[in-house]
Amino acid sequence: VDLDTLLNLDDIEEAATKQISGKAWAYYYSAGDDLLSKTFNNTVYKQILLRPRIFVDCTSCDTSTTFLGHKVNLPFYVSPAAMARLAHPDGEWGIAQACAQYGAMQVISQNASMTPEQIVADAKPGQVFGWQLYVQNERAKSEAMLDRMKKLPAVKFICLTLDAPVPGKREHDERQKNVGSNLPVRAAVQEASSTSKTSTNAKTPEKAMGVGQSLFWGTAADLTWRTTLPWLAKHTSLPIVLKGIQTHEDAYLASLYAPQVKAIILSNHGGRALDTAPPAVHTLLEIRKYCPEVFDRIEVWVDGGIKRGTDVVKALCLGAKGVGIGRPALFALGAGGKQGVARVLEILKAETETCMRLLGVDRVNRLGMHHINARAVERD
Ligand code: FNR
Repeated sequence: VDLDTLLNLDDIEEAATKQISGKAWAYYYSAGDDLLSKTFNNTVYKQILLRPRIFVDCTSCDTSTTFLGHKVNLPFYVSPAAMARLAHPDGEWGIAQACAQYGAMQVISQNASMTPEQIVADAKPGQVFGWQLYVQNERAKSEAMLDRMKKLPAVKFICLTLDAPVPGKREHDERQKNVGSNLPVRAAVQEASSTSKTSTNAKTPEKAMGVGQSLFWGTAADLTWRTTLPWLAKHTSLPIVLKGIQTHEDAYLASLYAPQVKAIILSNHGGRALDTAPPAVHTLLEIRKYCPEVFDRIEVWVDGGIKRGTDVVKALCLGAKGVGIGRPALFALGAGGKQGVARVLEILKAETETCMRLLGVDRVNRLGMHHINARAVERD
């Protein structure tokens, strides 16, 4: 497929859908129950209006920003998403190559289909990565992975995902459970050394499962504020980013753990965990209303449903410092490997620039609430 003929992220998804296996498509596309949160994630941006100003010099436009103090060229980044090689052999390494080209940040999933070492192997100087952790029942496995991160200086933070202590019910994925079994290995965790070989959690599932369910095997469901952050502090000195915050209460609690916690990601896991959980926009609005000091204490990133530059800009206006894309990067791989991912970054960068210039804004840190009318989505 000629990538230049694909003009937006929906075109990319459509092209990928024709090329990738039914199993890969179902795993990527799927979301919890009735896919309501997945749908809200995107439609909520469509209800927010922009307020363009005139007589502003918009000959130049700078999309660069910083994440946790690290310079990046784009205010959006690639979210951690498992199993990129289901879409294309370039896998997560291919995503890294495209990110290098555009100066974008990438968060590597613990359930990546390549090892973190392989993914960052050809990184450019200054390229920024995070590594995402699902704490394992066998804590030694997670500790071994955290140790490996110490040898990868390109990995600047640990992203701890908290919105899916158990997998959501994803029926598209489940319907494919008996189709094939040629999954790329879950490289990272399987290679991690384990001290407790006799643990019952180490056994593999007996009956066929969807890809999502099988990846959750061994993930801990017993994490708490009181126990998990102190445990992490013992095993990593990297800053922590908490992913999957869905209420202003938890955003506020997270901010009390600064400076160990340096950012939170408002996310409902792309609608893949609890269906009818709120889109990030609602949580952003709650934080603005009930505990705006959170924005001063830690960085607030969001993800879910981003398809257009206008979506990115609206999230930034609401106070997000970073905006993640999950499925678009996976479908981009399916459409054209690493060049497909580069095409997605190119499209979203151009759309973001166009939106900013038409709004009359030349730098991302000048975007604010005065550039939008969010009345239609303000709830209380
Ligand atoms: C994910 N996501 C995810 N999150 C995470 O913390 N660890 C993971 O391994 C995965 N795996 C994963 C696989 C697939 C196929 C998808 C679609 C998503 C969630 C991801 O980081 C992000 O929150 C959402 O994908 C954002 O929503 P969009 O951009 O897909 O709408």
